[in-house]
Amino acid sequence: MKKNIMEYFVPWLEGIKMYISPHIELAWKNPSLHRMMSNENPLEPSEKVLEAINKYARMGNRYADQGTVVRSKIAEINGLDGPENVMLGNGSSEVYDMIWRSLIVPNQGEEIIQHTPCFGIYKLRAGIVGAKLVSVPMKYEDRQLKFDADAILEAITPKTKIIVIANPNNPTGNFMDHEDFIRIAETGIPFVIDEAYVEFAGLGKSKIGMIANYPNVIITRTLSKAYGLAGLRFGYLLSNKDVVAKISATLIPWNVSTVTMWAALAAFEDTEGLKKRVDFINSQVKYIEESLSDIEGLTIFHSNGNYILFDAKGTGKKGNDVVAYAEKNGIILRPQPEMYGSDGFFRITIGTEEENKMAVKIIREFLTS
Ligand SMILES: Cc1ncc(COP(=O)(O)O)c(C=O)c1O
Repeated sequence: MKKNIMEYFVPWLEGIKMYISPHIELAWKNPSLHRMMSNENPLEPSEKVLEAINKYARMGNRYADQGTVVRSKIAEINGLDGPENVMLGNGSSEVYDMIWRSLIVPNQGEEIIQHTPCFGIYKLRAGIVGAKLVSVPMKYEDRQLKFDADAILEAITPKTKIIVIANPNNPTGNFMDHEDFIRIAETGIPFVIDEAYVEFAGLGKSKIGMIANYPNVIITRTLSKAYGLAGLRFGYLLSNKDVVAKISATLIPWNVSTVTMWAALAAFEDTEGLKKRVDFINSQVKYIEESLSDIEGLTIFHSNGNYILFDAKGTGKKGNDVVAYAEKNGIILRPQPEMYGSDGFFRITIGTEEENKMAVKIIREFLTS
C-alpha cells in the first residue's frame, strides 16, 4: 500500500513550523520603522570590514577553505592553543544546532536544560533534533531576575545531555556567579555557555578559562552583536580540541562563506572598530536606564548587553501595549510573553543616539499618561 508522503517524515518534526521572526519581517517591509527589537547593532560595518567584503566578493566564485586563518586569530584572542580549539558556524544559531545534533539521540527523551527567560533558538533546535527541552525558570526576587543554579542542578536526570546558559543572559542582561558555573561544570554534563554579548563587558567576563579544566565546557560566541555583523552570519565555538573535533564532524561543508570568513578576520583585527561599538552601546544603555529610572512602578533590569528588559506591571500598563504604542510612533520594540504573573514585560534594543532619545520619550509618554 502506498503511504501518504507525510508519513515518511521523522515524527519529531510533527507540529514544528519554519521559524519566522515577525518583527524582522515587519522591519524589512517597512524600512522607515526603527529597528529596536532584535539586538542588532545600529552601527554599520567599519571601513576595514567593508574593504574585506568588497575584496572577497570578487572571489565569490571560489569555495571557502576551512577557515584556518580566522580560527587561529580567534584562538589567539582567547589564549587558546590554535585553530583546533575553534569551530565556525553560520551564526551561533547554527552552532547550537551542531552541538545538539552531535549529542542528542533523537526521540529518546534525551534532555536539554535551559534557563528561562532566554534566547528562543535553543528550544527551536531542540525540537528539530528530537530532544526534550527542560526549562528551568530564573527567580524573580527584589525586582531582579536571578540565576538559579540550585534549580538547574535539581533538574538534572540520567537523560540530561546538555545544559545551556547565556552569560550575560538575553533578555535579563545579567551574569551568573562564577561559583555556579563551577558547580554546573563539575557535573561533567556538556555545558554550553553562550557568550553572544560578552564583548560589551569585555572578555575578562568570559568563562574561557574553564576550558582548560573542564572538557565538558563549550563556549559559543557571535559577531552579530558587539561586532555588528548580524547579517553576515558568523558564529563560533570554543572548547578543547577533542570536543571541537567531534562537533566539527557535523559541519556542513563551506557553511561559512568566503566573504564572511574574511570579513570576520577584518572585524577581529579592527580592535578600534570593536571598541567604538562597545563604548557607544554601553553609554547608550546607561543613558536609557538613567532616563527612565524615575518612572514610578517601572522595573528596569540592568543590562550588560545591547538590550534592556523592563517590567511595566507596577505602572499599570501592559508590555504589549507599550510595544504597540511605540510601533504607532515608528519604533519596533520587542514584546515578551507573560511571566511571573506579569504582563508588563517588554525589551528594547539599543539604537542610534536619535533612536534612543525617541524611544525614551515615547516610553515615558506612554507609561506616565
Ligand atoms: C543569547 C543569544 N545567543 C545567540 C544569539 C544568536 O546569534 P547569531 O546571530 O550568532 O545566530 C542571540 C541573538 O539574539 C542571542 O540573544
